[in-house]
Amino acid sequence: MNFTASLSFDRRLGLCDIRGSIAHVEMLAARQIITTAELTRLIGGLEEVRTEIIENRFPYDIRYEDIHMNIEKRLTDKLGPLGGKLHTARSRNDQVALDMHLYVKEEIGNIDSHLHQLQETMIALAEEYSDVLIPGYTHLQRAQPVLLAHHLLTYFWMLQRDRDRLAGSLQRADLMPLGAGAIAGTGFAVDRELVANKLGFGQLYENSIDAVSDRDYIIEFLSFAAILMMHLSRLGEELVLWSSTEFGFIEIDDAYTTGSSMMPQKKNPDVAELIRGKTGRVYGSLFSMLTIMKGLPLAYNKDMQEDKEGLFDTIDTLKASLPLLAQMLQKISVNRSRLADAVDDDNLCATDLADYLVRHGSTFRDSHHIIGKMIAYCLREGLRLRELDSDCRRRFHPDLAADVSTLLDPGKVVAARSSRGGTAPAAVKEQLKLAKQLLANKKRNPLY
Ligand code: ARG
Repeated sequence: MNFTASLSFDRRLGLCDIRGSIAHVEMLAARQIITTAELTRLIGGLEEVRTEIIENRFPYDIRYEDIHMNIEKRLTDKLGPLGGKLHTARSRNDQVALDMHLYVKEEIGNIDSHLHQLQETMIALAEEYSDVLIPGYTHLQRAQPVLLAHHLLTYFWMLQRDRDRLAGSLQRADLMPLGAGAIAGTGFAVDRELVANKLGFGQLYENSIDAVSDRDYIIEFLSFAAILMMHLSRLGEELVLWSSTEFGFIEIDDAYTTGSSMMPQKKNPDVAELIRGKTGRVYGSLFSMLTIMKGLPLAYNKDMQEDKEGLFDTIDTLKASLPLLAQMLQKISVNRSRLADAVDDDNLCATDLADYLVRHGSTFRDSHHIIGKMIAYCLREGLRLRELDSDCRRRFHPDLAADVSTLLDPGKVVAARSSRGGTAPAAVKEQLKLAKQLLANKKRNPLY
């Protein structure tokens, strides 16, 4: 009994189950499969059960396997044999499918709001630090200076794609399965459109076997979640790196760090690390669901009861991680002087020196080689590029004899990268405008 029951985890579907059952009995009455008087009593009973669930008074009993049978049992205790009419023209197979669709749709709406909030946080930070430069990295080696705002807005666009994927999974969740019965449909004259309308579904499953055997919408949601967590994990990793003594670019507010039980000096970025770490369980749930489904013959199989815990855990993980991350970012302090020092690195401007020679007629390959030699020389001599005098520079290329100091100014280097989507302040301003428009336009999806 303990092994086969799902009550310990599917009780969180209780309110969705009641909603589904109320729509179902209303349809049964509309089709005169039950009487209006019976409908009134059934709805009254279901509402009492709902109150018991909300007020934590519901007497869960594992002998009735799952939340669906627990609710029906409770209703029958209250109404007598009439409670037994609730399940007319319905199987637990289409019932559990309906509940899961309702639940997933609702949580997609909640998660999308959290994503929206995190995007707003990215925009606010980009505006707050609009004048701050940071070394941009490739291979975790300093590459070129960029605006911190530009770096942060990268996460805005990642989240935007996450929201697109979420909206896609919502479309697949927006299919109403009830009326499929156990597998083949029902001989009762049910009105599936009516149930769909009452519950806010846009579409019906057109095949009863598909209705009870489809878990694509769960797999799609978990895929969205896995990609999202990969994004959050990259951000978590950057926060961990940036708050280390080695980087020292940011300080994370004490509320989101912990001390060490042994080392008094420690301030550990636990929240950022845990967001990175929790990515593993979300990937695991996706893989578990894909594996559960891959060998199943049509239609319902008990294996499918295993669709719940990984999904619920993933939803809980996202609903915890997203707002925490937004709060932590809102309270982050950026160490401007440390960043100014990091950016004050002539080598970050090497590309610009190479581009300068290209503007004076060299090919890019030649100029790349020439500047490379000049940097190697500086490394050998322990000099910075700006310390080479005109004569010394001339030895690498005659065009370098001119004053190139503006090319070594990170602010000017950043300002020069004004291509669309580039890091110049003017380009980032355009980017911010687009990002804000997207947030303003994106009305709440009516399917949630
Ligand atoms: N507890 C089951 C689940 O979560 C409900 C459906 C069971 N259906 C059945 N015919 N045994 O999948």
